[in-house]
Amino acid sequence: MAEPILTATNLVRHFDVGGSLFEKPRKLRAVDDVSLTVNTGETLAIVGESGCGKSTLARMLMRLIAPTSGRMTFEGRQIDQARGRALTELRRDMQFIFQDPFSSLNPRLTVGRLVGEPLETHAPALSARDRRARVAELLTQVGLRPEHTDRYPHEFSGGQRQRIGIARALASGPKLLIGDEPVSALDVSVQAQVINLLADLRDRLSLTLVVIAHDLAVIRYMSDRVAVMYLGRIVEEGPTDEIFARPRHPYTIALLSAIPVAEHGRIKQKVELAGEMPSPIDPPSGCRFHTRCPFAQDRCRAETPQLRDTGLAPGHGAACHFFEEIARDAVPPAQGAGTGMTDGARARFALYAQALAGRTTRPRADAPPLPGAQPNVATR
Ligand SMILES: Nc1ncnc2c1ncn2[C@@H]1O[C@H](COP(=O)(O)OP(=O)(O)OP(=O)(O)O)[C@@H](O)[C@H]1O
Ligand code: SF4
Ligand SMILES: [Mg+2]
Repeated sequence: MAEPILTATNLVRHFDVGGSLFEKPRKLRAVDDVSLTVNTGETLAIVGESGCGKSTLARMLMRLIAPTSGRMTFEGRQIDQARGRALTELRRDMQFIFQDPFSSLNPRLTVGRLVGEPLETHAPALSARDRRARVAELLTQVGLRPEHTDRYPHEFSGGQRQRIGIARALASGPKLLIGDEPVSALDVSVQAQVINLLADLRDRLSLTLVVIAHDLAVIRYMSDRVAVMYLGRIVEEGPTDEIFARPRHPYTIALLSAIPVAEHGRIKQKVELAGEMPSPIDPPSGCRFHTRCPFAQDRCRAETPQLRDTGLAPGHGAACHFFEEIARDAVPPAQGAGTGMTDGARARFALYAQALAGRTTRPRADAPPLPGAQPNVATR
């Protein structure tokens, strides 16, 4: 039975933006009522377009920023108000891997200092000699060599720098790692190596991972579950192979349509979402996706859909009033296709239907890992 390690309930983070002497600041709803559970030992992926609130959510989960409201627990302990010693322990148990290994490492410190620094806080009893030995061990674990200790970050490639960041994150002996787009700043050729390293470390060190990505392909083979975010909310979540095989929210279907499907060849045409993502300062009423969804109806504009069980697999939920009907025939249930619909909307219906049809079989259980990587070996 899956044991939750981290839970979030109704998490909200608003930022005040703008404002002057004569004008009140406006509320930007970066994360707006997110609830999720991360189980011990699993990898949860959080995906969504730029600006949907992924980093804000990750920073709240890490307690790097405070939530405006909502509750969080880590190993059953309430953490949203944690301070002092409780917060220090939390910093030991949960570590962050940053997107940009160039700016997240202090260029003036050697690798030995960078990786050894967390040990000073979290293992103060270690002698200088033991600390050096531990740093060498951590570097080896991430595929670097102990003799790299005296070098500076600029002497390394992007992939190696991310490995230094991972070694630093591992130094305190965390139970959970949160990676905010940990490979998106790296060359495509190196991304798979770092993904494989994270998966390898997770298995060897019994870690729990939360990985944030805007590219679903990146997380496909390493995550157990996926949560899809749109404009500050989770719109669909479920086991990874289930989400890939039977997506139910129109937004997820659109995101997935861009990814090659091994069993069917590439889906011919990608579902292009209409328009830009609306501003989180003044989000659309009802379903936030209604301004871009070809299936939108009056109810969608008036009523916010809650995450509902799809009944397809345990833990698979979608926040759409009409996912059953859309999955059945990709036409809006009330009016039927055609009435009052623009040509553009009709074309999008056809694409959604095509995208869904291409997703009816489950991906192979023995799906290969991302190509091009030897686990735990830094080549660049
Ligand atoms: N400190 C802040 N002050 C004001 N607005 C902020 C702040 N941090 C984030 N935002 C806004 O909150 C929204 C969500 O931002 P966030 O960085 O969480 O998105 P994201 O999904 O991580 O995007 P990306 O994929 O580009 O990293 C955006 O509109 C962003 O401009
Ligand atoms: S609730 Fe309506 S607008 Fe929202 S995704 Fe479903 S059909 Fe589209
Ligand atoms: Mg981000």
